Amino acid sequence: MKSLALLAFFRALQAQYNFVRLLHPTVDTGDWHSSPRALPNTKIRCNRGAYGGAGVDTANVTAGITLGFHPNPPINHQGPLLAYLAKWFKYYEESIVKVTATDAYPYITIALWPSEGALDVYVPLPSTIPSGEYLLRIEHIALHNNGQPYGQGPEFYLSCAHVNILGGGSATPGSLVAFPGAYSVDDSSLNWNIYNHTMAHC
Ligand SMILES: *[C@@H]1O[C@H](CO)[C@@H](O)[C@H](O)[C@H]1NC(C)=O
Ligand SMILES: *[C@@H]1O[C@H](CO)[C@@H](O)[C@H](O)[C@H]1NC(C)=O
Repeated sequence: MKSLALLAFFRALQAQYNFVRLLHPTVDTGDWHSSPRALPNTKIRCNRGAYGGAGVDTANVTAGITLGFHPNPPINHQGPLLAYLAKWFKYYEESIVKVTATDAYPYITIALWPSEGALDVYVPLPSTIPSGEYLLRIEHIALHNNGQPYGQGPEFYLSCAHVNILGGGSATPGSLVAFPGAYSVDDSSLNWNIYNHTMAHC
């Protein structure tokens, strides 16, 4: 079994990270590249320069296993990690793990996610998902700029992998979404101020 593939051109920017590898026991994916802030157009799907079709290898993975992804550099902004499978449905979303009430607005972080600082991230595949080929989309949404004087809103860091899920079940995925379309720049869930201890969205 060989590579996996996907992804994209990118411009190396300080403190911005890319999911560059699927961590798989027998598949060497090579390096992927991606760029943040892909919201307004089709690049929100799999990122800039993503490709499919001939020449793209597909990794066999067993339903129910946990798949890892390697960000480079480590994830260095606050925000949740998510994962989707296409036809797009979300099967994983990281929850906030720590909220420290503080009045030290705005420069004390009070919302934290487990992926903060992660060298690698791991996401369990559903065991009940029907076997077959999917695009697996790993995404980190950085919320660190929300509500800041220079605030530019959420940033999206994402990559896709071609996977062939084996040994799956018979669940019917619900709540299908489209990329672009799943998110709007105005979504309050993407624009809340993580430094505001009232934490209306927690
Ligand atoms: C992946 O699994 C399929 C069976 O679904 C098999 O035919 C194929 O050879 C496997 N590919 C690799 C690279 O192991
Ligand atoms: C914090 O959030 C609350 C509720 O959304 C809002 O009324 C308040 O103005 C915010 N405070 C700051 C300092 O942003």
